[in-house]
Amino acid sequence: MSKIEIQGLGLTYITGKKEFIALENINTTINEGKFFCIIGPSGCGKSTLLSVLEGLIPPTVGQVLIDGVPIKGPGKERAVVFQQYTLFPWMTAKQNVVFGMKQVRQDLSGRQFETVAEEFLFKVGLSDFMDKLPGELSGGMQQRVAIARALSVNPHILLMDEPFGAIDAKTRVTLQELLLKLWAEDREKKTVVFVTHDVDEALLISDKIIFMKPKTVGREIPVNLPRPRNKESLFDNEEYRRIRAQLVGLFYHNVIEQIGGEEVVL
Ligand SMILES: Nc1ncnc2c1ncn2[C@@H]1O[C@H](COP(=O)(O)OP(=O)(O)OP(=O)(O)O)[C@@H](O)[C@H]1O
Ligand SMILES: [Mg+2]
Repeated sequence: MSKIEIQGLGLTYITGKKEFIALENINTTINEGKFFCIIGPSGCGKSTLLSVLEGLIPPTVGQVLIDGVPIKGPGKERAVVFQQYTLFPWMTAKQNVVFGMKQVRQDLSGRQFETVAEEFLFKVGLSDFMDKLPGELSGGMQQRVAIARALSVNPHILLMDEPFGAIDAKTRVTLQELLLKLWAEDREKKTVVFVTHDVDEALLISDKIIFMKPKTVGREIPVNLPRPRNKESLFDNEEYRRIRAQLVGLFYHNVIEQIGGEEVVL
């Protein structure tokens, strides 16, 4: 469990002589063991913010603290899952998971790496596919391997950038519920920061949602819906419908602002 504090964060991309402000004045706290979603229109800076949290891009101004300590680069306590499939194509599912752990887990040695990899591949339902290469797996299966790889390193913080963005609707629900189950049954609760475009996905999984407008935080929305959650149980929940309407409204207003049009009544 780790607490993340983002303080006065700004990031300017510099390409040659061109400067582009991608993030400005972001202030928020992500409490330990909570599931936190970042949602917002395309290009508003979600992936940039995640890269800063990962430690790949240093902030131009401000800082990110993890348990009170400013981050200075990638760290063992953080693991990442991206939208694009990022497995090594020449390694089997199991070898991919073992490779991730070998970089980080000094508490394991020899055959233990394989045992833990098998355990996590079992948890994501891939026991029968451990020796397959990524090219022999569907997109949903590859993302399950990526989740197993991220969880097997036992991170305090899991950073996920639209991990299910390229996956069909039905498989997506299965993966959302799988991720929630793994998160809920973990005794050392991970802090999860999850980027998505999908309002329903955010409401299913998160304790708090940040709606980003271009470059900064537009609104912070606590999600106090009962857990465990699934799609059906939420459907009849009044609070769910209220927050959903609020988020859809925020998206709609933002799109209108971005294209500089006027709202129309249909
Ligand atoms: N390496 C870079 N150099 C310059 N500008 C960049 C770079 N990466 C991103 N940008 C710009 O920063 C802005 C934010 O990009 P970012 O990828 O963070 O958005 P996003 O919210 O993740 O979008 P999407 O929902 O489409 O993934 C965009 O205008 C993008 O063009
Ligand atoms: Mg992005």
